[in-house]
Amino acid sequence: MAEWFEGWFDEDYAQLYAHRDAEEARVAVSRALRVAPELNEGPVLDLACGAGRHLEILRRANPLAFGMDLSRTLLGMAPSGLRPWLLRGDMRRLPLKPGSLRGICLWFTPFGYFSDEENRALMLSLGATLGNGGVLIMDYFNAGLLTRTLIPENTIERGGIRAQSRRALEGDRLVKRMVLTHLDTGEVRDVQESVRLYAPDELQEMAVRAGLRLRRVLGTYAGEAFTEDSPRWIGIFEKAW
Ligand SMILES: C[S@@+](CC[C@H](N)C(=O)[O-])C[C@H]1O[C@@H](n2cnc3c(N)ncnc32)[C@H](O)[C@@H]1O
Repeated sequence: MAEWFEGWFDEDYAQLYAHRDAEEARVAVSRALRVAPELNEGPVLDLACGAGRHLEILRRANPLAFGMDLSRTLLGMAPSGLRPWLLRGDMRRLPLKPGSLRGICLWFTPFGYFSDEENRALMLSLGATLGNGGVLIMDYFNAGLLTRTLIPENTIERGGIRAQSRRALEGDRLVKRMVLTHLDTGEVRDVQESVRLYAPDELQEMAVRAGLRLRRVLGTYAGEAFTEDSPRWIGIFEKAW
């Protein structure tokens, strides 16, 4: 059976998350370039780049930046100028040489999708693919806030789709089940997201095992310091020499 992340990141995802837009990416990348100036030069991978909203901004600063994603649909939505800089592939099998990258960015929570074992293996491979002094930007949610403020059910309408969502903590994962109704055709579809919740110290411990040292943690895309009420946990790591 296909995994949830193989089927969900399509046109409906793009419509429902359209508010995660170019402006949000511009703010996030601008701040990241200041905290991690290593991203300005050399090969930098926007991993799980989706339709390339962060990559487009990053490439204005760094013409060697490139992206990779699993979703043909989202990659197909990227601006045509980005096409030569996009790879399709599964992040669990990075087609890159050890030590070859100056930076890796994972924007908007593309971590935690797999089993704990596979997530840990992914972190190790991120560390191994960075060269010495390279940087990792890990933009993850604030698991503590999310757990405390979980909205069990809600319904929204966006981009011609009604999404009825149910959220639950199932073991160590946040599972969101959605029934999507296309308001024009009445077509109905079920989708789900299932993300392993990691506390900040768990992420840090995994990163240390991957040879990465925490440089800074931001709690918002604008660069505010992380607190327990921050919407994001954005870890900026450097590969220890
Ligand atoms: C929440 S979206 C974030 C997209 C993008 N970073 C952004 O901020 O717009 C997660 C992304 O992870 C990608 N993805 C999911 N599983 C993947 C995998 N196994 N390998 C590579 N990319 C994957 C999806 O296709 C999707 O584009």
